Amino acid sequence: MKQFIILTGLVLMSAIMQSQVKLRKELSPLPPMGWMTWNLYGERIDETLIRKVADAMESTGMLAAGYRYLIIDDGWQGGRDKKNNIIADPVKFPSGIKALADYVHAKGLKLGLYSDAAPLTCAGYTASLNFEEQDAKTFASWGIDYLKYDYCNAPEDSNTAKQRYTTMANALTRSGRDIIFGICEWGGRKPWFWASNAGGSLWRTTGDIRDKWKAKPGTDGEGIMDIVAVNGSLDAYAGRGRWNDPDMLVIGLYGAKGPSADLGGIGCNDTEYQSQMSLWSMMAAPLIATNDITAMNETTRRILLNPEVIAINQDAAAIQAKRIRSDAQWEIFLKPLDGGDYALAVLNVADTEQAYKFSTEDIGLSTGFVIRDCWEHRITGKKHAWSGKIAAHETKLFRLIKK
Ligand code: GLA
Repeated sequence: MKQFIILTGLVLMSAIMQSQVKLRKELSPLPPMGWMTWNLYGERIDETLIRKVADAMESTGMLAAGYRYLIIDDGWQGGRDKKNNIIADPVKFPSGIKALADYVHAKGLKLGLYSDAAPLTCAGYTASLNFEEQDAKTFASWGIDYLKYDYCNAPEDSNTAKQRYTTMANALTRSGRDIIFGICEWGGRKPWFWASNAGGSLWRTTGDIRDKWKAKPGTDGEGIMDIVAVNGSLDAYAGRGRWNDPDMLVIGLYGAKGPSADLGGIGCNDTEYQSQMSLWSMMAAPLIATNDITAMNETTRRILLNPEVIAINQDAAAIQAKRIRSDAQWEIFLKPLDGGDYALAVLNVADTEQAYKFSTEDIGLSTGFVIRDCWEHRITGKKHAWSGKIAAHETKLFRLIKK
């Protein structure tokens, strides 16, 4: 009898956990979009900056375009109080995080925060191990909508990672507030196999992005292409509510001093930044900008706010593009869209301009499509074929519209 009760209890508990995971998957049915402090500001953050960014997200049209999450990365913490409640740095955030959340919520934005599955974060601040329930409650009481949960200072093995992430995800669920959970263990333990079941809506697949196109052979610091090399083949694991996260957008940073400028992060040109936008959209990646949006130039604005490209990222079919060609000349991705359209990205990997041509038949589709260039904002002709020149490192992004 006793065994029966224990068994029934276990079955019930596992059913509850399953349904919690299912609910968590509905928290971010489409890839989250927003802005994060880390790549440019690192630990140099405070409430004045966050308010300025919130204002700019509204006035630049970022919010209207879908960038809703304003995420404070590492460096906000001020330790714990006498009751072990985590507190914000009183110098950087004298009004407290709750006041900031109220400020951004009033604009229709959401607020994100950062912690780590160990006693200390990557930058050495107070983190959440063994305080998961208490911290989740605190975050919920402040009005936090998104938690990025890092893995510095934690053991290497996968089992511990799975367990620590699940513990925090369950604590977030029990807090009673809908808080998206971003898993950040850099891909080392292949989180695409387990992170969704551990309660994550997204999971980083690589190390930290640097503001560069590609690492020179034998050097550290991953650029856009190094990250595409990994994330581009993980399409099978992404879908509604579960996203591969190839790290933040470096668009518009131009090598500015900050964490993404080290290890050779000298900046990219605008063609390369535009390629990042195309590729991240095709990979159904979270679109998390990091540039100074209070002082964006026109090109950066045009890249980040292109509605046709954002529509491909946010498409309701929620499918990550499949890489259909990858060599020294071209990277080609195909993404099925809701309603029978497709998106096709053609990236010229070479360092010189190349000519390219394709027809929809070449990529296994029928002839019943017209082709729209999503950066030129025009239908390229009546035909189901395209030919033209593509600049070095440029990505042509087409919407194949079903006739
Ligand atoms: C790690 C993460 C980064 C950032 C820093 C903060 O390196 O991967 O994205 O959050 O920690 O210290």
